[in-house]
Amino acid sequence: MTLRFVLLGDPVRHSISPAMHRAAFEIRELDAEYTARRTAPGEVGSIMRSAGLAGGNVTLPHKLRAARALTRPSAAVRATGACNCWWRRTDGELAGDNTDVGGLRIALSRLGFQPQGGRVLLLGAGGAARAAVHALLEGGVSSVEILNRTPARAHALRDRALAHATDAARAADAVRVAAAPHPGATYDLVLNSTSLGLSPGDPFPLDLGPGGHGGRFGAAVDMVYAAGGTAWIRHARTLGIRATDGLDMLVGQAALSLERWFPGLEAPFEAMREAAVAELAARSGPESGDGSGTG
Ligand SMILES: NC(=O)c1ccc[n+]([C@@H]2O[C@H](COP(=O)([O-])OP(=O)(O)OC[C@H]3O[C@@H](n4cnc5c(N)ncnc54)[C@H](OP(=O)(O)O)[C@@H]3O)[C@@H](O)[C@H]2O)c1
Repeated sequence: MTLRFVLLGDPVRHSISPAMHRAAFEIRELDAEYTARRTAPGEVGSIMRSAGLAGGNVTLPHKLRAARALTRPSAAVRATGACNCWWRRTDGELAGDNTDVGGLRIALSRLGFQPQGGRVLLLGAGGAARAAVHALLEGGVSSVEILNRTPARAHALRDRALAHATDAARAADAVRVAAAPHPGATYDLVLNSTSLGLSPGDPFPLDLGPGGHGGRFGAAVDMVYAAGGTAWIRHARTLGIRATDGLDMLVGQAALSLERWFPGLEAPFEAMREAAVAELAARSGPESGDGSGTG
């Protein structure tokens, strides 16, 4: 029997998730299909509970709603309040995870960044930032400074991180809200989790150069991705900063989703990445939109 998986979101038209998962199904010879479905808020829970589906992914703007529909949320879902991957267990329970957390870990590891003891500047305080703070704290960073356009949201993110941290005292020490980067400070990593870079005319989320605020950065990760890399990541590289955009994180969350749905299976990461790159290139053509975005 063909197992059916679905991506729920709005919009989903530009999603490259179907291409990645279909490539994986083919390589691993899985009798499964994956489709993207534009979903209204009120439909999320009922679709997830429908008997005809083995599981799926969730993207903007439904990750928080999806978390509430689960009967078996993972520790990462409880910590972030967000679910991007769910599946129906054999006992009928609805299990889910936030594989954005593990996807970011994979991206950091591929970049050669070891979180342990690291000092991080996090730009943004939305849903993706929740996954980032959780991954960074669990990875053992020494500090995370959150810089967000709306400071109240940064404070709310810090409160949430402290409430759900494995070690609350350490988290209270490590997670801070910043009004601006410390001039002249050195950060091991700057991580963009804002949506700046999604639209062609967007300014950089932070000027990393000498004309900027004067901080120094060992590495840069942009959660936004684009065919050929985002402009901000290219800017970082011209300054000699090792940098990667959100593609590895995206492929990582997809690979981990596949491994949740098919326990014991090893996801074909490189083949999924190749499918993602090919799909992005096809979509960044002159008539195909900007080729950047989420899931
Ligand atoms: N690569 C991946 O696998 C992956 C996974 C998840 C998300 N993402 C990407 O991460 C980004 C954020 O997603 P999200 O779910 O966190 O979205 P979100 O919850 O809507 O948060 C958006 C964030 O961007 C900030 N922002 C938006 N416009 C801004 C502007 N003009 N100037 C400064 N800051 C601005 C917001 O600041 P305010 O709080 O002030 O509004 C907020 O911090 C998206 O680009 C998404 O594509 C990538």
